[in-house]
Amino acid sequence: MAITYCREKEQFRLDSAHTSYLIGVTQEGYVGHIYYGERVNCFGGEDAFRLDEVPGPGKRKREKCAFLASFPFEYPTAGVGDFRDSCLDVENEAGQRGCELFYDSYKIETGKPLLPGLPATFAGDEEEDVQTLYLILKDPVLKLKVTLLYSVFEKEDAITRSAVIENEGTQRLMLHRAASACLDMDNRAFETVTLEGAWARERHPQRGRLLRGRSEFSSIRGVSSPQLNPFLALVTPETTQRAGEVYAMNFVYSGNFAAVADLSMYGSVRMTMGIHPWQFAWNLCAGESFTAPEVVMVYSGEGLGKMTRSFHSLYRKHLIRSPYKDKDRPVLINNWEGTYFDFDTEKLIAIAKAAKEVGVEMFVMDDGWFGKRNNDDCGLGDWYVNEEKLVGGLTRLGQAIHDLGMKFGIWIEPEMVSPDSDLFRAHPDWAIQIPGREPTLARHQLVLDITRKEVRDAVCDMIRSAFNTTKIDYVKWDMNRYLCDIGSAAGGPEYQGELLHRYVLALYEMQERLITDFPDILFENCSSGGARFDPGMLYFSPQIWTSDDTDAIERLHIQEGTALVYPMETMGAHVSKCPNEQVGRMVPIETRANVALAGTFGYELDMTRLPEEEKKKIPGQIARYHRFHGLVAGGDYYRLNSWCEEEPWDCWENVSEDRAQALITYVQVLGRPNTGSRLVRAEGLDPYAVYHLTILKDGEETEMKQEFPGSALMHFGLRIPALGDFQSVLYYLEKTREEEP
Ligand code: GLA
Repeated sequence: MAITYCREKEQFRLDSAHTSYLIGVTQEGYVGHIYYGERVNCFGGEDAFRLDEVPGPGKRKREKCAFLASFPFEYPTAGVGDFRDSCLDVENEAGQRGCELFYDSYKIETGKPLLPGLPATFAGDEEEDVQTLYLILKDPVLKLKVTLLYSVFEKEDAITRSAVIENEGTQRLMLHRAASACLDMDNRAFETVTLEGAWARERHPQRGRLLRGRSEFSSIRGVSSPQLNPFLALVTPETTQRAGEVYAMNFVYSGNFAAVADLSMYGSVRMTMGIHPWQFAWNLCAGESFTAPEVVMVYSGEGLGKMTRSFHSLYRKHLIRSPYKDKDRPVLINNWEGTYFDFDTEKLIAIAKAAKEVGVEMFVMDDGWFGKRNNDDCGLGDWYVNEEKLVGGLTRLGQAIHDLGMKFGIWIEPEMVSPDSDLFRAHPDWAIQIPGREPTLARHQLVLDITRKEVRDAVCDMIRSAFNTTKIDYVKWDMNRYLCDIGSAAGGPEYQGELLHRYVLALYEMQERLITDFPDILFENCSSGGARFDPGMLYFSPQIWTSDDTDAIERLHIQEGTALVYPMETMGAHVSKCPNEQVGRMVPIETRANVALAGTFGYELDMTRLPEEEKKKIPGQIARYHRFHGLVAGGDYYRLNSWCEEEPWDCWENVSEDRAQALITYVQVLGRPNTGSRLVRAEGLDPYAVYHLTILKDGEETEMKQEFPGSALMHFGLRIPALGDFQSVLYYLEKTREEEP
């Protein structure tokens, strides 16, 4: 039983394989947090709740104000005396803001409900291993009903949360905040782990001490953003990859979010996650309900590594729906860095041909094939082929690519419009903007108001027609600017505060439409590189373009941060030319390929111009991708060293589920003179198995004669010689036999 209720104590216990989560109800009906951590087999005692009431009068009779200041709420509300960060902020028809929730009832069900219009994890084939607790709370004054949803994924050690807020009264209410989850705990000198960045520097892991007050990690850019990913973990100071406690939250949402850690005067920490309240004002008329997007919570008592593996297996089994998710993806070549906008049919076919000769399996045509788009200041919104550039249109190009025996992919950016486009000239009011104010352009473009059905329909129809002119095997859905000038012609004042959330819902609806209409297309999401790399997008596409920075050394950092939460095979990772377009660095093509092997593999260059000696290596790299991708995509990931933290070398390991195979990737970022070899300790192997080792370096494979016991690899380590700048090596371990325990 994953969820148990103790009537006597009015407590709920949510158990997964290694964790427990306890919730209780007080004598007044407040719903509070008792415990989250290692699995326990009991309920809380008399002192279960932290109550730090001030000494004095509070001793005699529970004083509400002092009580609210310290009680660990499961879903705190604003306006009635709890001054910490809250989840729910409601305004009544008279303009007053206050809300207080009391326990009403509960329900426990096997499986997990869908969240209407929102991406969310699902039970799938493991219906029996997932249970959901519905806690119903009510505000009798506002006549507001709040259902807190907790779904326990037993095997993955994850709990998902959401909240449904319903107006059961007759007055119109306004939600100024409706967060999804809260975790209210005692402080343990917590530190925060977040993923920070910028364009081309996405998701760098960042760790810092949690100070008193409210620390917010958020995005108000309309997308989940490269600046801060919708992920927050609180960790104890001793936490490493292998040890220490981790409380993590990840938001299944692709728009504005706030992840908050509020360290109170009493030393308690309240961690919340949800839609950012900035420019959020949701009208809740009588009878209406609002569903807060899902938060995934993971607790690990064995360091960040175990947290990572929980997220990976949850997302693989219970979030990504694509029929491609368990398949090797075709190795692609994308022409963006190879040609930018300067191409025509012949040039693209020449690149595809050269790529086919070395074994590449799919050709992807990036930006610039439609409207008058010869540079990035026009054409977005005109989703019909530019026949001047592509003589014979998509039909001829698609046919030529397919005739080569390759798959054909295409780039689109459906949410956007260029002021210099036929679409904008016909419908200037279709862009998001504030009337009378010149809208701020970014990359010369505006954002379409896709919250309007006619806009979504028009764009989807154009795209559908383009896709119907030839067989499209793959689509890269891009989104290249943030949202500002938040104004919509679709509604009155009450609509404007809903626009940012409605935008995300509309985006999800458009993606759902296209994946339903074209079920065989492999979709890859993208947003100026990796500006929308979040679990929400993974629900619609099994891979996301990780970053516009394709330099292998920069990618080490970006991919380490991304893989902290997201499965490796979801990261689009390509080999590009040198000197690198973003940083000018020269990295051997072998290392470029070894780093890209950690994700969904491809090439991003003009194959007709790649030096011959580099080209020769490509067939071997593609073979390696197919040989090892199953391990990367289905196995457990262990981060063995981070070059960001210590010495300048980077190392990670992928171990198959049955522990029969492992791949260790070692990259020397900078060489050091006069240094010796180092021992790298493997993880996750079978200690009673004996492994055979193959070393793959410089295109050569060396099979080692000696055998390596799993326990020796994990405890003594594998001796790795010092390498020079940007050199790398792969160590492939295969179990040969078992030894007596
Ligand atoms: C974004 C993407 C790139 C490329 C360009 C095209 O920046 O991240 O990969 O598709 O747009 O304009």
